[in-house]
Amino acid sequence: MQTIYYDLRDTKGQQKEIEDKISAAAKILREGGLVGIPTETVYGLGANGLDGKAVKRIFEAKGRPQDNPLILHITGPQWLPRYCADIPPIAYVLARKFWPGPLTMILKRRAIVPDETTAGLDTVGIRCPNHPVTLAIIREAGIPIAAPSANTSGRPSCTTAQDVLEDMDGKIEGVVDGGACAVGVESTILDLTCEPPRLLRPGGLPLEDLERLIGHIDVDKAVTTPLQEGEKPKAPGMKYRHYAPKAPVTVMTGAPGAAAREIQRRVGPTSGVICFDEYAHLFAQQEVHTLGPSTDKLAQAQRVFDALRTFDESTVTEIYAQCPDNRGLGLAIGNRLKKAAGFHIVETDSQRVVLGLTGGTGAGKTSALRAIAELGGTIIDCDAVYHKMLEENQELRNAINEKFPGVFTAEGKLNRQKLGQEVFAKKDRLEQLNAIVYRFLLPELERQVAELSDGLYAMDAINLLESGLDRLCDKTVAVTAPMELRVRRIMARDGITEQYARLRISAQKADEFYRGKCDEELTNSAETPEAFERDAKLFFTRMVESLREEKRHGGV
Ligand code: TXA
Ligand code: MG
Repeated sequence: MQTIYYDLRDTKGQQKEIEDKISAAAKILREGGLVGIPTETVYGLGANGLDGKAVKRIFEAKGRPQDNPLILHITGPQWLPRYCADIPPIAYVLARKFWPGPLTMILKRRAIVPDETTAGLDTVGIRCPNHPVTLAIIREAGIPIAAPSANTSGRPSCTTAQDVLEDMDGKIEGVVDGGACAVGVESTILDLTCEPPRLLRPGGLPLEDLERLIGHIDVDKAVTTPLQEGEKPKAPGMKYRHYAPKAPVTVMTGAPGAAAREIQRRVGPTSGVICFDEYAHLFAQQEVHTLGPSTDKLAQAQRVFDALRTFDESTVTEIYAQCPDNRGLGLAIGNRLKKAAGFHIVETDSQRVVLGLTGGTGAGKTSALRAIAELGGTIIDCDAVYHKMLEENQELRNAINEKFPGVFTAEGKLNRQKLGQEVFAKKDRLEQLNAIVYRFLLPELERQVAELSDGLYAMDAINLLESGLDRLCDKTVAVTAPMELRVRRIMARDGITEQYARLRISAQKADEFYRGKCDEELTNSAETPEAFERDAKLFFTRMVESLREEKRHGGV
């Protein structure tokens, strides 16, 4: 099929010629064809939204999953009652204020809208785009246009007609060039079928603008955190790894300077970097695409997809991306970058978060700590702090010497074996030793934690709860696992018999102890350490995100 290109970048020229092009595009759409159309957000791939057969072709051209519904594009609120039922008054309030513009409303659908458009849902997404050419085409066609973003599924959205041709040439009847998109990220999707309304996708219209008009809006958790396996987002499209360049992406959140330094620490000669203009000079060795100035979110929104798309023709082995904060358009820009990264995010930022991890042997505490390290977190090794204190802290040494005479040699070295024998299998002696150690360790760690800079930290302490160190943590996490899995893991890890593995476990506290005393539980029933680390990363990403959110609002 030949894709006809209609140049409508300049609509001030020959009026007849312009009208002809608009009529031609409208005719293709009326007759069941597909046309790439400009909007203020991103280019759409349009078809007659009331014609199930035409809509089906959109899915084929994009390679789009069948369960992902499309947005209907209309010319204004007067068309709403034709396609939507039970329209709440607030929909008109919003439409009057923000249409034409980057706001999609989810409303109950009427039967006239075919299942192909809504992917079988009883709701429909509907919006009035702010682009004179596309509004003229819809008016001329006299039908609502179903249009997803015009990219091949899984690629970054198209912000120019050239992008559309790159993905769709030969697969669709026409492309209308209306110039580069002014906004650059897709519309904001707001579900009005629930109370309070719910933000399903952040986009070109900032959440703050919406809340100023209609009050509190719930933010769907798919906006800021990755979905867990089997979890269904309210906007089906949010579950797909959109906007994915070929090389894996890591997003650095945090103050721009700190994020840039963290990227600098990680890059090699084959890395690619997406950064704010001010930091481009730091990456002379790398392929760099800039997002615009760190203070200009409109520029960042316009460029974010282009930056991701440009890396598709590149041979970089990984990409590091700077990310704006969540205010204004930043929520949408960050969401697109994070989705491109499969939510692989390194927090270089913001407030300090200290997690405390504990759990019995073989449950997976070590893997969980590794997951935190991979998220950019720092592990506080309390055992190492204790050993250093044993060498350097005279008061601690005196206190031990008093209760355990003879465990220090004449040269002042601790005879660990002797101390071990003293407390091994003697519960009261062990308790005496622990009481001394905790008395000194707790204030020392308290001092250390107070001096930590912002960032993520995890406390690795054998007796986190018993020692009182849990009080220094924002949240404590019990790492637990089914007994049989633990037995198998310890046998494999330490090369011991089943009987001995069971003995080791039974000598420790039961999972119930940790479960009852910790704020949260992370259960490790994964088949492999890698699978568990993946689970753990999601778990901690969510936990840190919500902790920071709480802290921002002064909750913690
Ligand atoms: O700015 C935009 O919205 C662009 C331009 C072309 O208008 N369109 C766009 O469409 O981004 P698309 O298909 O790429 O994304 C539509 C999103 C998907 O995540 C889809 O799951 C969600 O909207 N959606 C559509 N109808 C829905 C419904 N009834 N309920 C929940 N989510 C819906
Ligand atoms: Mg899309």
